[in-house]
Order: sequence, then C-alpha cells, then structure tokens
Amino acid sequence: MRDKYEPKLLGEINVQINKELYSGYPYLSMAAHFSQAKEELEHAMKFYEFLNDRGAKVELQASAQPDTKFGSPITVFEQVLEHEIFVTTRIHLLYEIAVVEKDYPTQVFLQWFVNEQVEEEKHATEILEALKLGGESGSALIMMDKALGSR
Ligand code: FEO
Repeated sequence: MRDKYEPKLLGEINVQINKELYSGYPYLSMAAHFSQAKEELEHAMKFYEFLNDRGAKVELQASAQPDTKFGSPITVFEQVLEHEIFVTTRIHLLYEIAVVEKDYPTQVFLQWFVNEQVEEEKHATEILEALKLGGESGSALIMMDKALGSR
C-alpha cells in the first residue's frame, strides 16, 4: 500500500465511493420490489388453486399498468405499507363474506392470509422505521440490505 496517495485522486475516489453507494439506492428499492413480486404471485396462485380445487371458475382480470419510476427508499416503503394495508382490508372483506355465507372452507383458507397480512404490515413498518431512523445513507442501506437478505 502506498504511504501517500495523491490527494486529489484520493479525494475523487472517495467521492466516487459515495456516488456508487448512491447509485445503489434505486436498485435496493427495486430488489425489494422484485422479491416481493414473487411472493405476491405465490399469493395469487394460492387463490387460483383454491378455486380450482373447489371446482369454481377462475377469471383472470385486467390489471392497471404499474409505476415504472421509483422514489426514495422511504417513499417506496411508505407506498408498500399503504398497499399492504389495502390488501389487508381486502382479505378481511373476503373473510366477512365467507362468514356471512357460512363458507367454512374459505374461512379456514383465508386464515393463512389474515396471519400473512399481519406479517407483511409488520415487515413493511419495520423497514420504514429503520429507514427513517438510519436515514438513507449508503452504509445504512447496506446494513439493511444484509439484514433483509438473511431473512
Ligand atoms: Fe399478498 Fe403483500 O399481500
């Protein structure tokens, strides 16, 4: 290792480290979206298979175009939490209907989703709180990336 690095170059390389870390922000947000997207597809397939198992008709419906631009990690996870709260209200609505209709198999099936939504809201809240607490600095995001990756 050189004793004395040329100061200007050293300064610029340190700036570059910061820039590279900054470049990681949107990718980290996207990575979270991708892993979540796979989980959501599995949720959709659970409903799909449940209807199939019961001999009921699956009707795939049109879906709105999703956003293609991502905001800061905090903004992204605020949207994630808001969306999960919406999904929870949907699951609860289904459950209410199943209770009114005395559809016991659907009630049992939906219990997994009731619990899952508790986890999903908790997960999104924890990430959001950590982002608010740790800030959106490169090092805070790297630590969070590691923590999320080990789940
Ligand atoms: Fe399938 Fe994130 O709710």
